[in-house]
Amino acid sequence: MILFNGSSKMNDSKIITVNEVGPRDGLQNEQIFVSTEDKIAWINQLSYTGLKYIEVTSFVNPKWIPALADAVELVKGIERVPGVIYASLVPNRRGLERALEANIDEVAVFMSASETHNQKNINKSINETFPILEEVAKESLAAGKSVRGYISTVFGCPYEGSVNVKEVITVSEALFDMGIRELSLGDTIGVANPRQVREILEIFLKHFPADRLAMHFHDTRGTAMANVLVSLEMGITKFDGSLGGLGGCPYAPGASGNLATDDLVYMLHAMGIETDVDDEKLLSAARFIQEKMGRPLPSHTLQACS
Ligand code: HMG
Ligand code: MG
Repeated sequence: MILFNGSSKMNDSKIITVNEVGPRDGLQNEQIFVSTEDKIAWINQLSYTGLKYIEVTSFVNPKWIPALADAVELVKGIERVPGVIYASLVPNRRGLERALEANIDEVAVFMSASETHNQKNINKSINETFPILEEVAKESLAAGKSVRGYISTVFGCPYEGSVNVKEVITVSEALFDMGIRELSLGDTIGVANPRQVREILEIFLKHFPADRLAMHFHDTRGTAMANVLVSLEMGITKFDGSLGGLGGCPYAPGASGNLATDDLVYMLHAMGIETDVDDEKLLSAARFIQEKMGRPLPSHTLQACS
């Protein structure tokens, strides 16, 4: 495989969109409860970094995800900076009621491509999940909220191993049919490798345009940045990251550590690829949450600049 060959679709003049999922994916698995006040202060800092999408919490069952039990209070408490989309995961009608009460900007619906992970994560089979998310998406759109979609276990499942790409496409089509503006492809347990990303994206791009897809890599095995590079070459322009490399999925053993937003932004800027993000403000927000966590976070950039 040749990187940066003549057939590369990577377009240096494009601005890459960096979606920050740290306050949600980063904190959902943490044993310590970051106070609502500290979360709000952190999100308010993130709002001034140039990021255009911040996933601030989840309106899931607080018994399942206690770290985000303060979702309504948190969303009501954050400053809304114009131009920034404040989004949140919503699994069902009850979650949507809470999300609308808090007046979230965007609803993110989520499900898995593999049956067992879907069952463990949201307590439903894949077929049972479709009508639930369809209703959430429909009512969100009717309420004037945009909808984002997530598909998990695209590159591998902690319970079933490899996942058939046909299943991934079927679930993705169903999510697009619900009216999502963008689909995030999740490497939930950080098993993806660059060759696999290329192969799966080749198939995906025959079904969906690149500008409707975002890549959501976890760095569990250190392959996230290599996967970003291949995705860029394939014409993908949107990436999810979690500041400091915080994160994981509580229903995916070993899913520690999202791709660190600060490492992603460092690499893009060093390559001369633009984002709207200010490195210094981003690092300052990373230092803030690192101090609140009380331990060094996995991001390389944060450690190099400490
Ligand atoms: P359930 O227990 O099957 O729900 O949970 P239920 O419908 O049977 O209701 C049971 C009780 O929960 C009821 O209360 C409901 O009112 C309440 P009770 O009558 O017993 O007092 N309830 C709720 N309360 C607040 N908010 C709600 C809600 N729903 C029900 N929304 C459910 C089903 C989907 C809610 C549950 O399984 C759940 O919360 N799962 C979320 C798990 C989760 O957040 N996982 C991590 C996010 S996914 C991820 O990280 C992957 C991603 O990053 C991409 C990637 O990396 O691949 C996105
Ligand atoms: Mg994730």
